[in-house]
Amino acid sequence: MSDRARFTTKMGAIAASVGSAVGLGNIWRFPYEAGENGGGAFILIYLACVLLMGIPVIVAEFVVGRATHRNVNGALKQLAPGSRTHWFAYIGIIASLMILSFYSVVCGWIVEYLILAVSGGLSGHTPEEYGVMFASFSSHPWRPMLWTVLFLLLNHLVLRRGLKRGIERISNMMMPVLFVILLIFCIHSLMMPGAGEGLRFMFAPRLSDVSATVAVKAMGQAFFSLSLGLSCLLTYASYFKDSDSLVRNATVIAFLDTLVAVLAGLMIFPAVFSYGMTPEAGPKLIFEVLPVIFQQMHFGIVWAVLLFLLLFVASITSTISMSEISIAFFEEEHGLSRDKATAVSTVIALVLGSLCALSFGPLSGVTVCGMTLFSLFDYVSSNLLLPAGGIFFSVFVGWMLEQRLVEDELTNRGTLNVRTMRVLLFCMRYVAPLAIAVVFFSLI
Ligand code: TRP
Repeated sequence: MSDRARFTTKMGAIAASVGSAVGLGNIWRFPYEAGENGGGAFILIYLACVLLMGIPVIVAEFVVGRATHRNVNGALKQLAPGSRTHWFAYIGIIASLMILSFYSVVCGWIVEYLILAVSGGLSGHTPEEYGVMFASFSSHPWRPMLWTVLFLLLNHLVLRRGLKRGIERISNMMMPVLFVILLIFCIHSLMMPGAGEGLRFMFAPRLSDVSATVAVKAMGQAFFSLSLGLSCLLTYASYFKDSDSLVRNATVIAFLDTLVAVLAGLMIFPAVFSYGMTPEAGPKLIFEVLPVIFQQMHFGIVWAVLLFLLLFVASITSTISMSEISIAFFEEEHGLSRDKATAVSTVIALVLGSLCALSFGPLSGVTVCGMTLFSLFDYVSSNLLLPAGGIFFSVFVGWMLEQRLVEDELTNRGTLNVRTMRVLLFCMRYVAPLAIAVVFFSLI
């Protein structure tokens, strides 16, 4: 497959995968999921999931992608010819389009807040007023939908014009800046009066909070944040070079992703408690808390613009990676041109994304099992389909693939000495699939 693109440097490969992993999942979803599900207990289970399921499943996806240098469907056909495993690819494609749809709505909110910040709308209000502001914007009959559509069109342009490289270069430069900015926000939040309450909420697990629902949500969050289970990292690994170390890349990605999530928590929760706000606010949490923080800072508007801009860049590298799953599939398995393949996935996301955008307004009454379309897509994809994908990949690589091939991939044909290989293989074969299954069944 020498005609396929490869990441040119080792850093490029890691940076693109980190770009996929770090996004709204860390900064928007992690704080509100933790806030709704007991804080400390949730975070503890989340960390355990990253370690025991996350890293082994990342490595499993990497093995399949790099061994074949193909998209998920083609890779499965090549590694397990004659079996039906490649049908699994369809789950990945459906789930990735569902995620792209609701994710774009939140990217649209970020755009609205970026504009608000630039125009000075994010200062001089009380926390309650910021709450009302978000509620009236998100329930507006067309504004959120407009931003969602524009965001998806921009995403389309980036993918079609091959601007991806450019975006990745920008993101490689901006990720370290995002990290520094988060650090500054954290320090600022930690100095607020009453910040200790926020820390206690995050790090003192109350055992009474542990329940099957909390475990399922923490597991879903770990998979979502690491871009796992849908063959997203598999697709990226198909562009890795044969000399890249899969285990090292997986560890770096998991570490950086988790660090960003914890920093986001440290930025949000001290402020939540300091201002007597509630951590259970749901998807609107950061949009209510961040303005209050900006207001406290010198040059608050500048910080606000910077943070939303960086968040925007972080999210577009994530949506690019999600879109790539279905595009590579339509292109390589259905023979569509890249332009057509990109158009098909954008049109689907435009329809579903618009419906999700209306979930907070005109379509708020349309619910399935008590969830709006936005929450339903989020719940089904993150908490059910991604972990199911995790079981699939760990079982496929741990049990169905020839172990020689797996070990060759992990050690780059014996040229690397991977000390953690045995532990990793054990987690991949037993711990990850069993733990995921146990968490699933605990829900019943
Ligand atoms: N991990 C990204 C985030 O945290 C979201 C994401 C990108 C994703 N690609 C994915 C989630 C594939 C699941 C599957 O924002």
